[in-house]
Amino acid sequence: MSEYHDFDHFGLDPRIVAAVKAMGYTRPTPIQSKAIPLVLRGRDVMGAAQTGTGKTAGFALPIIHRLLPQANTSASPARHPVRALILAPTRELADQVAENVRMYIAGTPLRCATVYGGVDMEPQTQALRQGAEIVVATPGRLLDHLQQKNTSLSQVQAVVLDEADRMLDMGFLPDISRILNQLPRERQSLMFSATFSEEIKKLAANFLRDPVLVEVAQRNAAADTVQQELYRVHESEKTAALLELLRSRGLRQVLVFVNTKIGCRRLARELVKNGVNADAIHGDKSQDERMKALEGFKQGTIDVLVATDVAARGLDIAELPAVINYDVPYAPEDYVHRIGRTGRAGASGLAMTLATGAEDRAVAAIERLIKRPIEVKTLDLKRGRGERPPRFRERAEAHGRSAAAERRHAVAAAPRPTADDIFSKPYEPAAAGKAAEAEEQAPAAGKKPAKVAALLGGGKR
Ligand SMILES: Nc1ncnc2c1ncn2[C@@H]1O[C@H](COP(=O)(O)OP(=O)(O)OP(=O)(O)O)[C@@H](O)[C@H]1O
Ligand SMILES: [Mg+2]
Repeated sequence: MSEYHDFDHFGLDPRIVAAVKAMGYTRPTPIQSKAIPLVLRGRDVMGAAQTGTGKTAGFALPIIHRLLPQANTSASPARHPVRALILAPTRELADQVAENVRMYIAGTPLRCATVYGGVDMEPQTQALRQGAEIVVATPGRLLDHLQQKNTSLSQVQAVVLDEADRMLDMGFLPDISRILNQLPRERQSLMFSATFSEEIKKLAANFLRDPVLVEVAQRNAAADTVQQELYRVHESEKTAALLELLRSRGLRQVLVFVNTKIGCRRLARELVKNGVNADAIHGDKSQDERMKALEGFKQGTIDVLVATDVAARGLDIAELPAVINYDVPYAPEDYVHRIGRTGRAGASGLAMTLATGAEDRAVAAIERLIKRPIEVKTLDLKRGRGERPPRFRERAEAHGRSAAAERRHAVAAAPRPTADDIFSKPYEPAAAGKAAEAEEQAPAAGKKPAKVAALLGGGKR
């Protein structure tokens, strides 16, 4: 049982409580119950809890509460220095976290600015110069702004690394170290993720002061609400298998993960050729294209979104029914994050993985990490060959419903959660695993464990 059964008991500012209630949060999730009181007390926290269990509010609400005594309506930028910095590994995630923060602070005079690459710097510069107590950023672009003196981090009281294990791997660590070096030594530091290897935990401790490790215990690293299936296929059959899964399982909104940008582009093209309403999201696309693809997918104008691991972490797509791994990820942690795009906030979800013989070792590594075998299922590929999944438009015509209504119907018809026990499942920390490289910073291939000691220089902070 949670120590805190509702949001009134934390002592959070009523404006924050009103905001979360307006968002439909009725009771805190376990990570929120455990982390919020600690963060409110000013402690450094390393928080591990399954995907989709509300880690964002777990760190954001108490930080916002702690900023409120200094909140003011002055027009002067000097009265709105950056006091909390939230770092995220991808632009889409930074955008989403900032969106959440804006909803949580809606009833307060606090300001939030979002800073990420791939888009014009100017609007961000203006927002920073006008002053914002909370900045949500990806590291590279934040460093650009710091270099141009568009903002200062000298008054930061709290810093959060969302997806902390990713932020501390080799792809990001140099930038993270440079940013942390610009913060006051006297500050609160928070790290949250669904996965923490032992190696990363040790590394993270170097950036934290007397941290409390909060783990919401769960036997499996992946959320329990995600049903996991494995399909063994030959390389040449992968696309046919994917088409058959889309067809036979009646899947509509599906996120399909591949390991490379080229593969991502190619598969999306192939799906379109086969009559599937698909688009792609990967690091070689312009930010505008990335945003359009994600938005189209969220809105339901795109049925299948093919993605690299740029979409694996943190993204919250309401009631996404299914994820398919077209490729088995190189790093087992990425599997946990990828499949965690479904089965969020207590909803049920389906995660299917296509694996060739060459991917056996990667599958074994995943099973070691999640401490259980993935159920092996079979596919009848002959039956589905040449057919394609019906599109919403066609189904809508068949049922006399609008395409939007058809999509809603599909969501409603999908298996519903038995109970929203996301929120009460215990969690067991993930076994040691390799840190993955950062898609936005480095190519996905050739992942290596983080070699971090040199970068840390042995010192604290
Ligand atoms: N107490 C709550 N009650 C109901 N819904 C909640 C609650 N807290 C968060 N949510 C919702 O649950 C969803 C998942 O939250 P969030 O994105 O913070 O998960 P997460 O733990 O950060 O997952 P990930 O590991 O994938 O980043 C969001 O839509 C969020 O608004
Ligand atoms: Mg998150």
